[in-house]
Order: sequence, then structure tokens, then C-alpha cells
Amino acid sequence: MSRFSVDGEPLGFVEGQTVAAALVAAGRVAWRTTRVGRRPRGVFCGIGVCFDCLVTVDGVGGQRACLIPARAGLTVTTRTQEDGDE
Ligand code: FES
Repeated sequence: MSRFSVDGEPLGFVEGQTVAAALVAAGRVAWRTTRVGRRPRGVFCGIGVCFDCLVTVDGVGGQRACLIPARAGLTVTTRTQEDGDE
């Protein structure tokens, strides 16, 4: 199984999964919180519309995890309240 890094930890994925799909398959259904109310966010629409699934990928913030194909060697950082969007 191939792996990429999430918050410094290796995460396995199946070829064809998105970053979001790999996170959900690993049991992570929420990986950031909103600035207002610190509400949990993960996948909502799954098609790139809602922006709930934002992560940082290879140092580039604001990436929609549901649109990023999982690839070995990616470095994914989940967003926090401080840098998250509503
Ligand atoms: S889950 Fe809606 S944009 Fe990714």
C-alpha cells in the first residue's frame, strides 16, 4: 500500500483515492474546525463545491482534499481554527 504524510504521520491509500477518501477510509471524518464556533469540518459535498475539506498540500494551503488525488510522497497538513475558513 502506498502512503503519504498527514500531519507528520504516514497514511496508506488505494490507487485512485483522493486525499479526502484516504482520510475517511482511515477513520478521520473531520480534520479542521471553523474559526467561528470551532465546528468540525471534513467531507461534505465530495465534489469540490463546499470547501469544507480544506487542507494544505505540499505547503500550499486551501486545497480541497476531495479533489486532490492521493499520491505517494504528498505532505498533507490539516487546517486548524487559526488558518481555517468558515
Ligand atoms: S468536500 Fe466539498 S469541496 Fe471538498
